[in-house]
Amino acid sequence: MFELRNVYYTPGGNQILKNISLSIKRGEIFVIMGLSGAGKSTILRLLNGLIKANSGSVLVDGVDITGLSEKALAEVRRKVGMLFQSAALFDSLTVAENVSFAWRNEKINDIQKREMVRETLSVVGLVGVEDKMPSELSGGMKKRVGLARAIAMKPQALLYDEPTSGLDPMTSNTILELIKDLNERLQVTSVVVTHELASAFAIADRVALLHDGKIVFVGSVSEMEEANIPLVKNFITGGKI
Ligand SMILES: Nc1ncnc2c1ncn2[C@@H]1O[C@H](COP(=O)(O)OP(=O)(O)OP(=O)(O)O)[C@@H](O)[C@H]1O
Ligand SMILES: [Mg+2]
Repeated sequence: MFELRNVYYTPGGNQILKNISLSIKRGEIFVIMGLSGAGKSTILRLLNGLIKANSGSVLVDGVDITGLSEKALAEVRRKVGMLFQSAALFDSLTVAENVSFAWRNEKINDIQKREMVRETLSVVGLVGVEDKMPSELSGGMKKRVGLARAIAMKPQALLYDEPTSGLDPMTSNTILELIKDLNERLQVTSVVVTHELASAFAIADRVALLHDGKIVFVGSVSEMEEANIPLVKNFITGGKI
């Protein structure tokens, strides 16, 4: 579904990503781990065309998006939903307006739209919150609304930036379950960024470890646990590299 080939991202001469090559298969849950500042969010932004690689290529669904026009990129972004690190809801809009934002240019009558919002919210486990404002929601509910907004476009892939950060352990677990559930039910490819080892291991089909803008490991959870690579071992035992 996604492929990065020898990608460099070097804004203003800073080497943020250095020669990244990665292939993410259709339907898998692929987790990107690494310390703060490693470049994890930058990879997600490349995958949905929010930023452009300085060299190398980024393929989404077989299409190289590096040279695409803004109009063509907008099409790519419809295929790739994103849950941002801070949920990024529009604070002055209700939950229903946030979720239906993706359909703002479509001719759908209000009754139909209301029903579509209700259905989309139920997919992420929310009921009866349509008329609430984001400020009235808990952290976990905000993440769910952000996710509802992302799936409203019926994407082929979902990108999650730190989906469990700032949540208590129980709420974290329900969000991780939801990621797995959506991956199966919506048959999407899921790319999840986290620095939390337990979260990663709970959901990953495959894991990549990013360090200082470079990939140091890609493989299954058990391969990662057995890997004889000092950087990987340090990350697993101490959360440090
Ligand atoms: N456009 C830019 N110009 C300059 N530096 C940037 C730019 N974008 C990102 N960076 C830097 O690149 C590094 C990686 O950023 P990124 O946000 O991808 O890290 P991260 O792994 O997601 O970290 P965190 O876990 O803290 O979210 C950081 O040091 C950041 O300051
Ligand atoms: Mg980040």
